[in-house]
Amino acid sequence: VIKESAYRLNYHFMAPTGWINDPNGFSQYNGEYQLFYQYYPYDSKWGPMHWGHSKSKDLVYWEHLPVALAPSESYDSGEGVPGYGCFSGSAVVDGEELVLIYTGHVDSNEPMQVQCIATSKDGVAFEKYTQNPVVANFPEDGSKDFRDPKVWKHEDKWYMIVGTKKDGKGKAVLYVSDDLRLWKYKGVAAESDGTQGDMWECPDLFPLNDTHVLIVSPMYGTQNEKPFYVVGDMDYDKGVFTQGTCTTLDYGFDFYAPQTLVDDKGRRIMIGWMEKWLTKMPSQEHGWAGAMTIPRELILEVDTLKQKPVVELADLRTDYKKLDAFEVAEKTTLNELQEVVSETIIDFNISETTATQFGLELRSSEDGSEKTVILLDLKNKEIVMDRLLSGCGEKGISKAPLVVKGISVNLRIFMDTTSVEIFVNDGEQVITNRIFPDANSKLFNIFTQGGKVSVNSIESWKLGSVWN
Ligand code: FRU
Repeated sequence: VIKESAYRLNYHFMAPTGWINDPNGFSQYNGEYQLFYQYYPYDSKWGPMHWGHSKSKDLVYWEHLPVALAPSESYDSGEGVPGYGCFSGSAVVDGEELVLIYTGHVDSNEPMQVQCIATSKDGVAFEKYTQNPVVANFPEDGSKDFRDPKVWKHEDKWYMIVGTKKDGKGKAVLYVSDDLRLWKYKGVAAESDGTQGDMWECPDLFPLNDTHVLIVSPMYGTQNEKPFYVVGDMDYDKGVFTQGTCTTLDYGFDFYAPQTLVDDKGRRIMIGWMEKWLTKMPSQEHGWAGAMTIPRELILEVDTLKQKPVVELADLRTDYKKLDAFEVAEKTTLNELQEVVSETIIDFNISETTATQFGLELRSSEDGSEKTVILLDLKNKEIVMDRLLSGCGEKGISKAPLVVKGISVNLRIFMDTTSVEIFVNDGEQVITNRIFPDANSKLFNIFTQGGKVSVNSIESWKLGSVWN
């Protein structure tokens, strides 16, 4: 178990050791949240895929459980195949059983990827189904890239969408079943309009309010791009999802392969991999890589999917600080706010602000040579997160649309030792990035360019650790 790495996070989910990527099987069983994940326990790099497993009563404190799935069978192992194993998938509760539905990566030739199930009666030990794979080949609408099954129940039937590609388009294909074992192909539920990627990974399709939402992690060639969501209508008889507008789910670099569950309180909650493929991962030098974002409740308002950090995270708050309305005309350090692991809510008063560009420097060193800059640009209507000077991690600039409605802009910022998640205006836009600054870079500055910035209020908390 890795304890000594300065990059370990305090309240984000991490594996005990090794490599993790996608969240898998995000579900609730006997009242406890279950989080599985793509796991290679033996190295800080991706390798033959296992499913790590942990559970939680509150989505905040997690208990690690034994590895749920390891490559072991002809349909989820591959001799001489560079990457193989138990690829991403989902979990559902069927009567007394917790059922995992995953992709077996077999081969580099066809069929290459097949869909399999494993069941458990105690939520800890899983048995692979003797007649796996349950979907042994890809449909003619797809190709050998055929993975990441997401299963849900609608009325009295199970539905499963699987990501695939054909003719240069990413696709989500649909299956239906009565018993999770015998699956009938329905057709293409949704596909790229030509601009949404040529391979769809980790599709998730779920009801929300009176409509449905599709989430996709798209690939363009070998490049993984920002997951997006589409609000539309699902016709279960035809097996077709009518697509509305497509919006980026998170404008940061470190957000991929999100998955959702619906819990016993009726909340639709999403968690994502807080890293991405082909990025610099400084923690690999410390023997591990990968973490999950904080869990976020999804709220649909008309066609906008808002992300709200789950309320349970408030349990971590200590050391409350509140700053009342103030103005600054030049760069100012807010000495009250020097907690590295923190939650901060800032409300800017836009009608009183005369600057068109202003913002924050997070995790700044005394001399300013290290900092993560959050710029609110009223002229270009965008919010920018610049991590060019954020320490030893990957660099890059993230941009999200800044929509000013009324007279204020609100930012809710979750910082952990090596991450920043910003929820803009109640989570209408979100930006998630990993940063790797020096532990001593702690200043929280507010700056403005050519005018004054007016702040209505700032509230801030130190957040506790869930890993001690
Ligand atoms: C997405 C992904 C999935 C696949 C898994 C392999 O990040 O590429 O499509 O199942 O990771 O670990």
